Amino acid sequence: MTDSLTVRDNRTGQEYDVPIVDGAIKAADLGKIRTADDEPGLAVYDPGFVNTASCRSAVTFIDGDKGILEYRGYPIEQLAEKSTFLEVAYLLVHGELPTKAEYEAWVHEITFHTFVHENVKSFMEGFRYDAHPMGMLMASVGALSTFYPDAVHISDAENRHMQIVRMIAKMPTLGAWSFRHAQGKPFVYPDNELGYTANFLSMLFKMSEQNYVADPRIVKALDTLFILHADHEQNCSANAVRSVGSSQVDPYSSVAAGIGALYGPLHGGANEAVLRMLRRIGTKDKIPAFIEGVKAGEERLMGFGHRVYKNYDPRAKIIKKACDDVFEVTGVNPLLEIAQELERIALEDEYFVKRKLYPNVDFYSGLIYEALQFPPEMFTVLFAIGRTPGWLAQWNELVQDKEQKIARPKQIYTGERGLTFTPASERWA
Ligand code: ACO
Repeated sequence: MTDSLTVRDNRTGQEYDVPIVDGAIKAADLGKIRTADDEPGLAVYDPGFVNTASCRSAVTFIDGDKGILEYRGYPIEQLAEKSTFLEVAYLLVHGELPTKAEYEAWVHEITFHTFVHENVKSFMEGFRYDAHPMGMLMASVGALSTFYPDAVHISDAENRHMQIVRMIAKMPTLGAWSFRHAQGKPFVYPDNELGYTANFLSMLFKMSEQNYVADPRIVKALDTLFILHADHEQNCSANAVRSVGSSQVDPYSSVAAGIGALYGPLHGGANEAVLRMLRRIGTKDKIPAFIEGVKAGEERLMGFGHRVYKNYDPRAKIIKKACDDVFEVTGVNPLLEIAQELERIALEDEYFVKRKLYPNVDFYSGLIYEALQFPPEMFTVLFAIGRTPGWLAQWNELVQDKEQKIARPKQIYTGERGLTFTPASERWA
């Protein structure tokens, strides 16, 4: 068996051997296939990169058929149960688990970079009273590039490390302040006595009390949710970070692009749609009729199905368990019963079984966020805070990858050619 592909171009009768490396062929090799020297080479048409690998990456592994997700080789289940978000962030960015000394230094660095310049505060105060928190987050992260102009030195490893620490550290501050602004409440400064997630909760919910102490079960559950969202290989927002980063711009601008991608309803917004759906179903007795409507193609069962996972999304299993922990503190979200019954019925129904439709990460996460008093606009902000180490790990890998070039896809031109321009004064005469 040879690791190559033999392609016969029926236009010319010529055959080509294209090497296969790591289960892929190079699109550039197909470019050598042409009908004449002055004709363009064969291109690959793949809107949405459905079957195109854009990079080599050692950050995250997914096997969608088996329902496996691993960060740097470690199964998500083990990380969610036994690690912390900051340790996972270290793992994603550095590629290895930290020693005790490395972990302590990492936590210290991140903790002491949680404050933002006072001008960032006045900048954020300038948003309209009803500004969407995700738009505020995206703009504020982009604005950080103006506060740290040295971030343009992306080939300096020490400099990259500094910006990575700053961004992971400041994201909860910016996220919490976006929330407070929308609520008309004063911004709460970071409390460096608190851990990463406890500090975030303090900046979100502290009012007149001296110290805000969140319930440890809530802190743990939110920390776990951050771990589950920390990376997901070449998803839409990671691809946006890489695409913009490939121009060698600073990492704040690249991550702001990632936040923009995540903002969209096809990426970060499905959990809100799940809540709307559960609320509309309302009671368990309405579930069978709803399922029939889904099967008849009238609508989709939101929170079910995934482009990559054709098995139970491993993150959904862990979130289900986190629901129990959160509801022990907040009281059960009445929509949970409907969600569980919906899942039970769908998993036994041939329509869903045959199409390999299982709950995805969004099926239960909205229920937790709602129980924690977050309005739906904040759901994607929480996602963005969790995803930041993943974006930065992807970016850090990109800028050191010698094979990477500026992202610049080809197109198949379908427009007119060679028209003759008539000035407006003559056309409109
Ligand atoms: N409910 C009912 N039927 C579904 C669902 C669903 N949620 N998802 C897919 N199907 C059906 C399709 O109708 C199609 O059936 P057919 O073969 O009879 O036409 C088949 O399953 C395959 O569906 P596709 O749309 O081709 O699958 P694709 O991989 O393109 O879509 C997606 C994946 C967008 C996630 C889809 O499953 C969906 O819309 N789910 C609901 C929205 C959702 O939960 N999104 C969150 C994803 S997780 C995340 O982004 C963080």
